[in-house]
Amino acid sequence: MAKCKLTREQEQKIEELLSRMTVEEKVGQMNQLSPSIVGGFDVSMEELIEMVTDGRISNEEFGRIMSQAERDFHEEDIRAGKVGSYLLNDPKKANELQRIAVEESRLGIPLIYGFDVIHGFRTTFPIPLAETCTWNAKVYEASAQVAAREASSHGVHWTFAPMVDIARDARWGRISESAGEDPYLGSVYSRAKVRGFQGENPADRERIAATLKHFVAYGAVEAGQDYNTVSMAKSMLHNGYLPPVKAAVEEGAMTVMAAFNDYNGVPCTVNSYLLRKVLKESYGFEGFVVSDANAIKECVNHGIAEDLSDASHKAAVAGMDMDMGSDAYHSHLAEQVEAGEVSMEVLDEAVRRILTVKMALGLFEHPYADEARMALYDGALDPDHFAVALDAAKRSIVLLKNDNVLPLKRDARIALVGGLADDGENCLGAWFADGRGSDCITVKAGLERAGAHVAYAKCCDVESVVDEKELASVAADADVIVAVVGETNSMSGEASSRSDITLPGHQQELLAAALATGKPAVAVLMNGRPLALQWEQEHVPALVEAWQLGVTHGDAVAAVLFGDYNPSGKLCATFPAVTGQCPRYYNHPNTGRPGSKSKFTSRYLDAPLEPAYPFGYGLSYTQFAYENLRIEDKGDSFQAAVQVTNTGAVSGEETVQLYLRDVTGSIVRPVKELKAFEKAVLEPGESRIVTLTLAKKDMGFYNDEMEYCLEDGSFIFYVGGNSRDCLEQELRVSFEKSEIADWNTV
Ligand code: NOJ
Repeated sequence: MAKCKLTREQEQKIEELLSRMTVEEKVGQMNQLSPSIVGGFDVSMEELIEMVTDGRISNEEFGRIMSQAERDFHEEDIRAGKVGSYLLNDPKKANELQRIAVEESRLGIPLIYGFDVIHGFRTTFPIPLAETCTWNAKVYEASAQVAAREASSHGVHWTFAPMVDIARDARWGRISESAGEDPYLGSVYSRAKVRGFQGENPADRERIAATLKHFVAYGAVEAGQDYNTVSMAKSMLHNGYLPPVKAAVEEGAMTVMAAFNDYNGVPCTVNSYLLRKVLKESYGFEGFVVSDANAIKECVNHGIAEDLSDASHKAAVAGMDMDMGSDAYHSHLAEQVEAGEVSMEVLDEAVRRILTVKMALGLFEHPYADEARMALYDGALDPDHFAVALDAAKRSIVLLKNDNVLPLKRDARIALVGGLADDGENCLGAWFADGRGSDCITVKAGLERAGAHVAYAKCCDVESVVDEKELASVAADADVIVAVVGETNSMSGEASSRSDITLPGHQQELLAAALATGKPAVAVLMNGRPLALQWEQEHVPALVEAWQLGVTHGDAVAAVLFGDYNPSGKLCATFPAVTGQCPRYYNHPNTGRPGSKSKFTSRYLDAPLEPAYPFGYGLSYTQFAYENLRIEDKGDSFQAAVQVTNTGAVSGEETVQLYLRDVTGSIVRPVKELKAFEKAVLEPGESRIVTLTLAKKDMGFYNDEMEYCLEDGSFIFYVGGNSRDCLEQELRVSFEKSEIADWNTV
């Protein structure tokens, strides 16, 4: 792994340290702690952080608890060399504890501070699901770089991001933290995030280590219910879920976090096939693996370990290098090594990996947070970072429907309704690190800043009943009604799966009441997952998917509503028509009876065949015509060339997408798979040939024996502006046998 390449001296220093370490000190490196709340409060600091970041308690409530609680920072354990890592983002405290580790512990090994920096630190960016809709690696990388700069100023060395779970079930709350349903787009995303967080040299003081999480298939939890079980064929795992991990390991990701779920009966935390065989041996991952919070302990709940000691043993042997917070290694690992139940090689391997990452991050040279940088991101938002966030936010918005309502005229009198329109906190989305609701520009504020004539009336909150009188009164003088509807932060993210993903509460009634006034209406959606929008699709003339865009939310929405920014976002996850279609994703395997109008086919009696909006979909204020698809064999690759014309009246940006179907395979293949995409910015009337390249080696798949197969036969190439509406061309392909042998490596 390039990012962990050390000098000879650094490697020697690690070996020298290893040779001097006691068993307890080695176990100490494998132990991650967070401050415990003592004195009558029953959850750990780590759980508290989760509660505030996923919105179960407000920032204010968190502040109150923190100010009153007595905390144990485990200074004694740090001094004794029993702690290797810590969850913290308080720079002063970080330096204080680091001083104990470096100056008072026997070997002076620095702590590595980890924290959840998921979509920005102080400058909150769009949630990952939204940002992925930009289909833009530069955007993914830039936001991670800003997050790294801000987080590192607060003593954070290591973020628990990017989440690279493929998420195909919109009921799963954590789809909001994901890059959506596609392994190719997910790989573009995971690589870019690693580059953004770690840079060329992760020892640079403005960079931090990335974590690929959750390893693996957490997004496939049964029925979209969080923490649930996962069963799937190895071929599906390797073709559909592992590609973003593999890509990001190649990119140099320094750490990996195991997933809570089991994979085919063995929790990922203790799964040696995943941790050792796939990740460390096959992918050559050289960094370290951390468990998810308390996950080693939870192996007892899984019923795979008898007690904490058994769980500790199983995890260590399986290749789990660091225990996040379950006290398993701390309490049991040393005695297991002394008893010969866990070998010293297992310990040495884990510690070597952890020290390698610490060394590559430069922690031995610069263990302390730079006091001069600490205050940089505590006051007003950094204007340059705000600009990066605004660019990402505008590009994240997806225009789902527009029956000639948008863009709005600058002098239109707007009746703005819905509690979310004036709610900064809920622009943040799940998992905001140091983000603050008061920093967020709401839709109301954004429209006002854009000079709109806007009259606001809440009319209803996400879950309260509609005040129809209020609606009638605010709509009376309006030219157009803009209703901001959706979900609160806490309705997506961890532990926030929903069994019904229609608009919550009475918000559909709010839309119906707005339509009943006879005025044109726009629904601006603010949500952390794809929603089931069958009713809205049918009735509301304009639908703008704005997600939760972070600090620049309202500015970005206003720019799109007025056409100052022509929407360019494309969905990275399918929007089902009804919840019962979940999991709904475009690249599903073929069936013997593909869904159709006839009865004995794969379909529901009471739901449409099609989703509401397919993967890759998104409108613009202009239109793009596709013609003349040509596929050319270029030796090692195929090149698809297509003529794309802007047939509308304004300039626009299109994402041209290439999909492939392997018509016949030795195992059932997906109906279509994204293989490449390119951007085209076209002026009105402009026409351009856009070319997309597909390497032949990427036309294969893994079978259940873990062989990579490139099979001769027919392939259909599809090119278009979304996964549904494409031009297509079928070709017979024979791969050169000699080349296949070379490509046959995992
Ligand atoms: C649990 C979550 O699953 C994981 O994503 C997160 O990084 C840890 N908690 C630490 O907060």
